[in-house]
Amino acid sequence: MKRVNKDLKKYIEENIFPKYDKFYAHGMIHINNVIENMMMLAEYYDLNVDMAYTIASYHDSGLGIDRENHEYESGKILINDKELKKYFSDEQLDIMREAIEDHRGSRKTRPRNFYGECISDSDRDFDISILARRQINTTLKCYPEIRTFDEHFERCYKYICGRINSSGVFNLWTNNPILVERRDKFQEDYLNKEYAREIYKNEWNNAIMDGTMDKILNYYEDY
Ligand SMILES: [Fe+2]
Ligand SMILES: [Fe+2]
Repeated sequence: MKRVNKDLKKYIEENIFPKYDKFYAHGMIHINNVIENMMMLAEYYDLNVDMAYTIASYHDSGLGIDRENHEYESGKILINDKELKKYFSDEQLDIMREAIEDHRGSRKTRPRNFYGECISDSDRDFDISILARRQINTTLKCYPEIRTFDEHFERCYKYICGRINSSGVFNLWTNNPILVERRDKFQEDYLNKEYAREIYKNEWNNAIMDGTMDKILNYYEDY
């Protein structure tokens, strides 16, 4: 597989990744997972690896500015970044901005370009433990009135089940076979509610024991 341009990678590591420092659900664990998925798709579909890497790296960078519209803020960060002009044409930068703007999983209409489909699909957590940790962060922040694990779990579970589309699956725009396989396994496990609950419970307990829950409440800033 083609390698990402060394200088571009270094620039992003030093200047964009620090933007994720104060995030948990959208911190570097998430960003690295999305990069990994995106690079897999870039290889599968023979995409431009520099574009794929950059899109994945910038896709949530605007969260600190405006959470609700973070896809547009992230797109602005990319398009206003003069350094990227060394590596990409204006046309490529526009494609990348559109892809980032269209990345959200709650989106009902197809992204405007294929990079957008890839980043949206790469942004999914088809791993219940990772999903549980990210969602617990969100419910702890957004619903401070909720006290018990059971209430948190019910809220998380309902939200994810709401992502199942009319054909009964968690939507994937690319329908990439590797992601489809992961999705189907995830879905089978997830729809076994007792099984899913057990994993959420483990992650809840781990987050208490290893201090993550405390950091979520007192340090991290994302939702
Ligand atoms: Fe996002
Ligand atoms: Fe994301």
